[in-house]
Amino acid sequence: MGFADELIKWQKQHGRHDLPWQGTRDPYPIWVSEIMLQQTQVATVIPYFKRFMARFPDFAILARASEDEVLAHWAGLGYYARGRNLQRAARQIIEQHAGIFPHDTDEICALPGIGRSTAAAIAAFAFGTRGAILDGNVKRVLARSFAIEGWTGDRKVETRLWQLANDLLPDKSIEVYTQALMDLGATVCTRSRPRCHTCPVKATCLAFAKGLVDQFPSPRPRRTLPERQAQLLVIRHGADVLLEKRPSPGIWGGLWSLPQIDMDAEAGGTCQRLTGTSPARIHSLPVFTHVFTHFRLHILPQEVMLDRRPIIVEETGRMWLPVEDAIHAAIPKPVSRILKSLV
Ligand code: ADE
Repeated sequence: MGFADELIKWQKQHGRHDLPWQGTRDPYPIWVSEIMLQQTQVATVIPYFKRFMARFPDFAILARASEDEVLAHWAGLGYYARGRNLQRAARQIIEQHAGIFPHDTDEICALPGIGRSTAAAIAAFAFGTRGAILDGNVKRVLARSFAIEGWTGDRKVETRLWQLANDLLPDKSIEVYTQALMDLGATVCTRSRPRCHTCPVKATCLAFAKGLVDQFPSPRPRRTLPERQAQLLVIRHGADVLLEKRPSPGIWGGLWSLPQIDMDAEAGGTCQRLTGTSPARIHSLPVFTHVFTHFRLHILPQEVMLDRRPIIVEETGRMWLPVEDAIHAAIPKPVSRILKSLV
């Protein structure tokens, strides 16, 4: 038996069969789950998926919802572009595809937020279309099985892995095979401490044969991320905190955040400008670091207390919200961390 047949046999016995997005051919839940599962683990995704499906059960309802509400359902999953793209894609499906999810893999791939691997996974699960997937887990499985040297994010290495992924495809049972690759990567061929003794393809695994499983895939070449700094102003009046909508596109675009100023800017003056009121007290909260893909941001939260009612209450792009409600709004993780430290 070859690689694919071993995996298919193994998936039927040892793979996962009762995840909430399984047991259907309906592309809607399959698509939503695949987007959530990009960069996020199954255990984290499950409650988000259930809440999302309960509130947005089909393309039309998702397309009609406000972006704010969609992002509020995404808050905590991170990588908010995924949430925004999900809704943009739903709108395209309604407007350009008559409400029907496209069957053609290239057309699926043309929707916002869907790359080649995600398109192939959706097409396999929803339509039984034969096509290769290559997410982070699959890259690791293939790099080990075939002892592929080099960082898997490198273009040449990636091209080789896509070729391999295509060559290995079975003629039948593509959906079982696709799920098998995902399950193997998540439960057996894990990044650290892989369970090689239970692996269905250990007999042909080149990394295993060489005793070098821990050397594959090769790590990303080290690079130091640029460092940036900012102050986030936690402007409070009574139980309320001032939130500000971030411009889109941009970091945290479309999310509600705290007013952000440079490290050398003056918190009191900024508060005066935004609220027409000078603060009664300002006190610094502990600095912490948030790591983005391209830089590290050192954040100094400054708690700015007002004891007079702010003059400017309503302004486009700003709102006062009770801290408890703000925590549940569409806010980025570091802001959630700061607000939670206040209650
Ligand atoms: N990771 C990405 N897609 C998945 C799926 N459908 N099931 C489990 N893990 C996944």
